[in-house]
Amino acid sequence: MSSDLPGHDSGTPLGLVVLVSGSGSNLQALIDASASADAPFRVRAVGADRDGTGGVERAERRGIPTFVARVQDYVTRADWDLDLERQVSAARPDLVVSAGFMKVLGPAVLGAHRAVNTHPALLPSFPGAHAVRDALEHGVRVTGCTCHWVDAGVDTGPIIDQRAVRVEEGDTLESLHERIKVQERRMLVDVVGRLAADRSWQNA
Ligand code: GAR
Repeated sequence: MSSDLPGHDSGTPLGLVVLVSGSGSNLQALIDASASADAPFRVRAVGADRDGTGGVERAERRGIPTFVARVQDYVTRADWDLDLERQVSAARPDLVVSAGFMKVLGPAVLGAHRAVNTHPALLPSFPGAHAVRDALEHGVRVTGCTCHWVDAGVDTGPIIDQRAVRVEEGDTLESLHERIKVQERRMLVDVVGRLAADRSWQNA
C-alpha cells in the first residue's frame, strides 16, 4: 500500500505524551517498545499529577522530559485542566496515553488531544479508581484489562481492545493486579502500535 494514502503510517513515529500517577510499569513497556530506531512511536514527554512517582523517575532515567501538575496547586480544577493542556501541548503529541493516571481528564485536554486510557478491568464492568478490588469483592471468575478512547465520562469511551485474566483461588488484590498488569502492558504496546500504523483515527 502506498504510504501516501490517507490514514497510512507515513513513517514518522507517533509522538506520545504519557500521563502517570504511580509506578509507571505500563509507561516502561511503552518506553522499551519505542527503543529501536524504527519503532512506530516515541514517548515525547511524561506528565504526573503528583510528586515522586515511579513513572516520572523511569522517564528521567531515559532522558524523557517530564512535568507535574497537581490539582491542589490550582485555584480550580478548570485551571488545572488548562495548565495540564498547556504542558501536554508543549510536547506536541499525536496521542495522549493515560497509563495509570488517576485523574479524569478535563475539557481543555480532551478538546486539544485524542487520548487513550488503560484500565484494569473488563469495561463496562468495574469502572473507577478501585477496579481490581471491586472485581475481586464481586467474586467474578474472569476479569482483565481494557484500552479505550477517553471521553468526558469515567472509563466510558469506546473500547479499542481487552484481555481476559482468570481470578485464581486465593488471589489477593496485589496478586490479581500484577497478573492483570502483565496482560495490560502487552495490550497497551499492541494498541499504540496499531494506532501508529493506521492513523485513520486522526481524521475521524
Ligand atoms: C494499571 O493497572 C492501570 O490500569 C491502573 O493503574 C495501574 C498503573 O500501573 N489505572 C487505573 O486504575 C485507572 N482507573 P503502572 O503505574 O505500573 O503502570
